[in-house]
Amino acid sequence: MEGLSNISSEIVKCTLCDLCLKRTAAVPGEGNEKADIVIIGEAPGKNEDLQGRPFIGMSGKFLSKNLESLGIKRESVFITNAVKCRPPNNRKPKKEELDRCRPYLIRQLSAIHPRLILALGTSSASSLGIEFKHLSEIKGKILEITLNDKKFNCLVTFHPSFPMRFPSARKAFLDDLSTAFNLYKNLPTR
Ligand code: URA
Repeated sequence: MEGLSNISSEIVKCTLCDLCLKRTAAVPGEGNEKADIVIIGEAPGKNEDLQGRPFIGMSGKFLSKNLESLGIKRESVFITNAVKCRPPNNRKPKKEELDRCRPYLIRQLSAIHPRLILALGTSSASSLGIEFKHLSEIKGKILEITLNDKKFNCLVTFHPSFPMRFPSARKAFLDDLSTAFNLYKNLPTR
């Protein structure tokens, strides 16, 4: 079984797309190698690019606060992004960038084989091969997806930057996290 540190050391040297040209540091992801839950965001922002760590800025703090309110400690999960290098001005990753980075994500998920994947936002859902026209078609539902011949349970919800900006979406976001974690508690152990 491939180790996460192997994958991380490839990511930090990656030159598969132009995002490598402007990055300070690639952000492979961090957390528990044996995590039951993997959380996938979109792409590193400014703070993440400077420190090489995922979700350490404002949206990370908002995410951690919501996780903690449900009794989930950040250290107990593995957190990564669909794209491992910061897109200029925090624009959305392009399809080509998602495609180039996807194999790293799939390898990370295969190595951990979590009981639950929490996908935050449309970029991470697309990276997992989930098809949709609008987030509302898939949001808050438990989906079974197959990656590298392995099955995973996945729940897609808003990227935390959305409920952070729009307080009216905060309850729906927390409800989705709660659905996800209640489900995972009832799943068979690996
Ligand atoms: N937004 C993301 O999607 N990921 C991060 O790591 C930080 C902000």
